Amino acid sequence: MTIHDYDAVLALWQSADGVGLSDADSREAIGRYLVRNPGLSFTAWDGDLLVGAVLCGHDGRRGYVHHLAVRPSHRRQGIGKALATRCLGALAAEGIDKCHLFVFAVNADAIAFWKRVGWSQRVDLVVMSQYTVDGRQ
Ligand SMILES: CC(C)(COP(=O)(O)OP(=O)(O)OC[C@H]1O[C@@H](n2cnc3c(N)ncnc32)[C@H](O)[C@@H]1OP(=O)(O)O)[C@@H](O)C(=O)NCCC(=O)NCCS
Repeated sequence: MTIHDYDAVLALWQSADGVGLSDADSREAIGRYLVRNPGLSFTAWDGDLLVGAVLCGHDGRRGYVHHLAVRPSHRRQGIGKALATRCLGALAAEGIDKCHLFVFAVNADAIAFWKRVGWSQRVDLVVMSQYTVDGRQ
């Protein structure tokens, strides 16, 4: 994925139930993410049509995958698995041996997909978050 893919990728994410978008997905923020994590995020194309996308990066210790989405017309053809596999391979090539991701607890389809492609559901963790800027909730 490059920042030139941004408009098509954002449209795909916006149309995909299960992908939670926020200020952190602005063009500027995604551009920064891609610069910080070169060669780790991927797109899938059917000719000129974007059919899949995934963001991936790491912090030097662990990898993180975000926003995997496949166009509904192209699901169940192995594209999601291929994108996830690419991410793990690219992380491994950088010496990162484990990757985490966040899934909405209500997104049973995605949880089933991730289990099917080999990921383990953690029941021992709770995600906690706070804004770094005063006054935001
Ligand atoms: C989740 C998603 C990316 C899967 O993409 P996909 O291209 O259809 O997945 P694949 O075809 O690569 O499937 C890989 C395996 O998972 C299985 N699988 C895919 N979707 C599944 C589902 N909803 N339930 C159960 N298994 C599923 C496939 O059958 C396949 O198994 P197989 O290897 O035994 O045949 C896609 O459904 C999607 O974009 N969902 C909406 C966005 C979303 O929720 N993303 C997750 C954010 S964390």
